[in-house]
Amino acid sequence: MKQIIKVQVQVKKAILDQCKTDLLCVGQFKDSKTLDKSLKQLDAKLDGALEQVIKLGDFKGELGSTALIYTGDKIAAKRVLFVGLGDRKKAKVDILRNAAAAAAKKAVALKAGKITLALHQSLGGKTDMVRGGQVTTEGIYFGSYIYDEFVSGDDKDKRLELLSVELIDDNAATLRKLEKGIEAGAIIGDAQNFARTLANRPANVAYPEKLAAEAKKMAAGLAGLSCTVFDDKQLGQKKMGGIIAVGQGSQHKPRMIILKWSPAKASAKSGTIGLVGKAITFDSGGISIKPSANMDAMKMDKTGGAVVMATMKAVTRLKLPVKVTAVICAAENIPGEHSFKPGDIITSYSGKTIEILNTDAEGRLVLCDGIQYAKEQKCEPIIDIATLTGACVVALGLYKAGLMGNDDKLIKKISEASEQAGEAVWHMPSGGEYAEEMKSKVADLKNIGSRYGGACTAASFLGEFAGDTKWVHLDIAGPMEPSEPLKKYVTDGSIGFGVRLFVEYLKNLASK
Ligand code: BES
Ligand code: MN
Ligand code: ZN
Repeated sequence: MKQIIKVQVQVKKAILDQCKTDLLCVGQFKDSKTLDKSLKQLDAKLDGALEQVIKLGDFKGELGSTALIYTGDKIAAKRVLFVGLGDRKKAKVDILRNAAAAAAKKAVALKAGKITLALHQSLGGKTDMVRGGQVTTEGIYFGSYIYDEFVSGDDKDKRLELLSVELIDDNAATLRKLEKGIEAGAIIGDAQNFARTLANRPANVAYPEKLAAEAKKMAAGLAGLSCTVFDDKQLGQKKMGGIIAVGQGSQHKPRMIILKWSPAKASAKSGTIGLVGKAITFDSGGISIKPSANMDAMKMDKTGGAVVMATMKAVTRLKLPVKVTAVICAAENIPGEHSFKPGDIITSYSGKTIEILNTDAEGRLVLCDGIQYAKEQKCEPIIDIATLTGACVVALGLYKAGLMGNDDKLIKKISEASEQAGEAVWHMPSGGEYAEEMKSKVADLKNIGSRYGGACTAASFLGEFAGDTKWVHLDIAGPMEPSEPLKKYVTDGSIGFGVRLFVEYLKNLASK
């Protein structure tokens, strides 16, 4: 298998027109009539080529848009890339993430292996440049990613092996701040791309046993991170009836993967945070089989688990002083002689019995055992993440993840982290009448509700297992794949939604 594109980000003291680079990336706000001062000097050397692009209206500075200018060797850079920064009045440091992603995507398309970014220079003196370095670097990782592990292709048409990026400024203090941010940004960006690769891997390659091996390998390389795997036999001994039922139709048996980060100097105030991820390595629907159109996308039904695993990588590498336990529930949902069936009544790990009415509502069945396990490990709060329902996509589109939970303060903290991370969520209801709908006549619960409010009833099912433990649920079925506006920044496939959000949330806890 091919390595994904390597990324390297550094700072350098330099001015625009002297950079020897394949692509010099500069920012420009929307609807500015003129170039800013530093760009004017550059433009003079380019005989007004930059100004011309704007005058002609070929580039309007929309956030994430780009325009390419060839320099004819008038400056040291081979090309200049205008990168739109959007509305000047709305400009927050976060726009650097988008701008850098757009630049990185373009660099990969051009096979420009060495690029120079001066984007932060457009954002006045008040900008937090540590944060600037972080989000810029996250954007570089985000935009440069392509999933091509299995593309063997022609050697002469090879894509970049390495994208080498320098952030330039002529102020040494600014460079020091940027550099500090780059460190965190690279860890977060790398983790997010790791989640994307796990999610993108096809189901014949990344079945539960392989995911577990990947987690073991990751933990072996990271001091302080422990990994325990329960195989199907151990799941049976523990009577984890939910994950067993979902996985029993497949030749690839289920696994529950536990990752623990427990730093010595963890802040006493926050207890152990529990992250629970749905990792259905392929969701055919089981006996309640899905229609065949786009069924291939259901290899990405392990995104939640991938995001949780990648978050643990970042948390460990950042050495965050918070205890975190991750529970990844991995199973393949496939029809077969041994599959669970509509009408079956199963006993979950918690002891609650569940009437199965649709084997395609499987995510909640693996998660309820994961949540119960996290509770037993004394995790609080518990945060689960899952590509759980098509209903959530109907409600919110691809733009936002659904956020449900039983604790307003926790919901607020997750919403704040979502804002910081540029991964949007929308609070939706759960509990109450939605939970009522999930009661069965022949068991404690049933695994589907009525035709309506499917994202909310699914969340409420999980809420029954969280009980009094503070809990939130993220339904990421929508942002499992990029929405149309996001395609400016990324190629097809998983976007690893949730890694940045989780790391921001945990960083916020650590800084208290
Ligand atoms: N993995 C799917 C949900 C999904 C749909 C994720 C589209 C990403 C994109 C989940 O397991 C599922 O099949 N849910 C069913 C539940 C229903 C049977 C109650 C659904 O949403 O149709
Ligand atoms: Mn399903
Ligand atoms: Zn599913």
